[in-house]
Amino acid sequence: MRILGLSGSLREGSHNTRLLRGAGTMLPEGAELVIFDQLGAIPPFNEDEESSPPAAVRAFKEAIASADGLLVATPEYNSSIPGVLKNAIDWASRPRAESPLVGKPAAVIGASTGLFGAVWAQAEARKVLGSTGARVVDRELPIGQVVEALGADGLPLDRDAREALQATLDELVELAGGVTAPAPAQTSSAPAGRADAQRAAA
Ligand code: FNR
Repeated sequence: MRILGLSGSLREGSHNTRLLRGAGTMLPEGAELVIFDQLGAIPPFNEDEESSPPAAVRAFKEAIASADGLLVATPEYNSSIPGVLKNAIDWASRPRAESPLVGKPAAVIGASTGLFGAVWAQAEARKVLGSTGARVVDRELPIGQVVEALGADGLPLDRDAREALQATLDELVELAGGVTAPAPAQTSSAPAGRADAQRAAA
């Protein structure tokens, strides 16, 4: 299973990109996070071009189409989502009949340097994605005071927050069809191999 990761921040040292990468390490076996890092290459939306969009938009739409689900990590800019994220979603949502977002499982997480952990931006992202026809996990992961809240691995240091992140990821994977549990490892009580058969025959 492939989960497409989108960070709403283009900044090199983005906490949200770091959180996104950390979240990728918590996905179950059989699911991988692939980050689409070209949101900055997508030009401003122009409805005149929606049926023959620029190459950067086509690449974005193809990346969504080939993913089983989306994981968005968004900062909060002026109480809402960054324009670059909204712009990319607007492109991907059109034309509606061909939009790869329709029916796509999606989850939203976010971090901010302030106290509230980008809750308004996350609510906004869920609303916008829901309006495109994506199936959005009804959970939020507010990581406030992010400079202190994330470890070097990009994961929340707080246990409750880590559990909340895990619950969000589990629900996203479930919505995307789930992953099959790996086969149990062979143990000594497993069926006899060739050497055992030879011993038994001797
Ligand atoms: C912010 N920031 C911010 N934080 C917040 O909690 N609520 C807000 O409304 C805003 N508004 C805002 C506007 C703009 C233009 C910027 C650049 C920043 C602070 C923001 O949470 C902080 O810079 C994060 O660290 C940005 O995320 P990344 O880039 O670290 O992922």
